[in-house]
Amino acid sequence: MPSRSRNESCWCGSGKKWKKCHFPKAPPLNQNQLALDYLKKYQIILKTPEQIAGIRKACQLTSQILDKVCKKAQAGVTTRELDGFAAQLHKEAGVIAAPLYYGHPPFPNSICTSLNEVICHGIPNDIPLKEGDILNIDVSCILDGYYGDCSRMVMITPVSLERRLVCEVSYECLQRAMQILKPGLLIYEIGEAIENYATAQGCSVVNQFVGHGVGVHFHEAPQIPHHRNRLQIPLAPGMIFTIEPMINAGRREGVIDPSNQWEARTIDNRASGQWEHTVLITDTGYEVLTLL
Ligand code: MF3
Ligand code: CO
Repeated sequence: MPSRSRNESCWCGSGKKWKKCHFPKAPPLNQNQLALDYLKKYQIILKTPEQIAGIRKACQLTSQILDKVCKKAQAGVTTRELDGFAAQLHKEAGVIAAPLYYGHPPFPNSICTSLNEVICHGIPNDIPLKEGDILNIDVSCILDGYYGDCSRMVMITPVSLERRLVCEVSYECLQRAMQILKPGLLIYEIGEAIENYATAQGCSVVNQFVGHGVGVHFHEAPQIPHHRNRLQIPLAPGMIFTIEPMINAGRREGVIDPSNQWEARTIDNRASGQWEHTVLITDTGYEVLTLL
């Protein structure tokens, strides 16, 4: 039991009544119960309003950095230069680059740059971009302990029909997947929407990498497969996760580069495209947290 009354002045010294200042606000009981159920059953963290506000800010900064880095991606520029520019933007914004030193072996850079046949987790290098290249730039930031994650394709035009196709199909897959989001949707319906569209366009869907819960940690439950699957977990308000379909022109299989244990290339060296957003499930639908 609280030993002070709601009408006493707040402990913080603001002079305001406690109830108008730092009185602890409990979320509605049924939301509380749902959060406990999701944690226990699926290890999914349904975010509180306070966490959502923090993650929203992190996502906006992440998307702003991605936008600026994409504008620099032109013929003649190296991905290492893009990485350096991104590192500087992270510093100026007061955010930490989540990929830097992440995982085993530690990821060596601030952003992922995945070129042409690289599916994901590409490591920046000294090769200048040139006409005909397609590049995925993936930015993930930590702001005040909260995470945001998004990526986009950049085309160094003119590009071949096949490369353009994977850029456009992966974009459309992400849009279609987001448009159906609402509480009660089952996770497998996301993969179904993506694989139905991608295969109708003659492309394949990567199944070795998935979207993921995000916000309090970089990679949280649940996994969000982009391929056809059977995950019967209903979406619930307060869930935050990424959708990041990787779409190949040829075979879906990837091979991880043994020299760095990060970069995944298509097994047939054909083109791969990917777009990523972080989304929040709301009471009535969804909000794209990384949309500017
Ligand atoms: N969006 C990518 C992911 O969730 C970001 C990878 S950063 C890395 O996998 F450090 F893991 F490479
Ligand atoms: Co991600």
